[in-house]
Amino acid sequence: MKKLTIIFGAALALAVATPAMAQSPIIIKFSHVVANDTPKGKGALKFKELAEKYTNGKVKIEVYPNSTLYKDKEEIEALQLGSVQMLAPSTAKFAPLGAKEFEALDLPWLFKDDATYDKAMKGEIGKWLFQKLEAKGISGLAYWDNGFHLVSANRPLLNPADFQGLKVRISGSKVADRYFRDLGSIPQIMAFSEVYQALQTGVVDGCENTASNYTTQKFDEVQKDITVSYHAHLQYAVIVNSKFWKGLPADIRGQLDKAMAEATDYTNSIAQKENEDALALIKKNGKAKLHYLTDDQKKAWQTAMAPTYKWAKGRVGGEVLDLIAKELNIKMN
Ligand code: LMR
Repeated sequence: MKKLTIIFGAALALAVATPAMAQSPIIIKFSHVVANDTPKGKGALKFKELAEKYTNGKVKIEVYPNSTLYKDKEEIEALQLGSVQMLAPSTAKFAPLGAKEFEALDLPWLFKDDATYDKAMKGEIGKWLFQKLEAKGISGLAYWDNGFHLVSANRPLLNPADFQGLKVRISGSKVADRYFRDLGSIPQIMAFSEVYQALQTGVVDGCENTASNYTTQKFDEVQKDITVSYHAHLQYAVIVNSKFWKGLPADIRGQLDKAMAEATDYTNSIAQKENEDALALIKKNGKAKLHYLTDDQKKAWQTAMAPTYKWAKGRVGGEVLDLIAKELNIKMN
């Protein structure tokens, strides 16, 4: 009887100990709103591959693309609550986090090209913006590029007058709200997952986004005219819940940092080509007509949108604008 008790006791101890001994992996839920087949989607999958490899399976990354877990607004709330551990929202969506300064990056015609954008974010401004998040319990790990916006409707958008009265979906930034108002449009914030249907049913007349988001969401099938204006830049910040991140064992965090650095290089290296390929696909699909601005038309847009810069100071503050001006060696206002 005594022997039996010992055996039973040992079996019980083993059963209790097994989960801990097998060391169930740390789960990181990474939620985002775009398709897998986009720069951000591919970046998230690359991070998963590298993170699981470097941690030897001690960490499991569950990627939830295409708003399958949360939509735009919900995912930020979920990160703060700890229901999800990692996101990569466009920085245009950071005002609800109390970090309006990020919206300065949405100023129209701010970055002359991708190289200028990249240099700026690797400099002081990138670090300064991430510091703004710390107070909110959020840590910024990396900036991921997705190139420049196109803009579309069911009529050619070539001159500022073409925007008059146009209902345009925007993703969240008040700076974008402002430049569309400068053009005479009526902007409306809407979750990314709702845009296709809103365009199809005429809830909105138009939208802006990068070419890879147009093709993967099929916006080009419900918009007749797309202007390759490249009037503003789309960038993401990969963010985590600080408490969760800082609570990870230091060696694991180091391996994840390495995976993130490599996934970031990868994402930023493919973004431009992904968008060029998407533009070619829009042309091939033939549903929407692509339009390109002449120099005079571009100048007219820039003149119409110029008041946004003055206005932005009251919204994002002078400090971030001064930092950007210094970084880009330009004069603001
Ligand atoms: C949008 O909502 O338009 C985009 O920011 C979606 C994305 O994450 O690229």
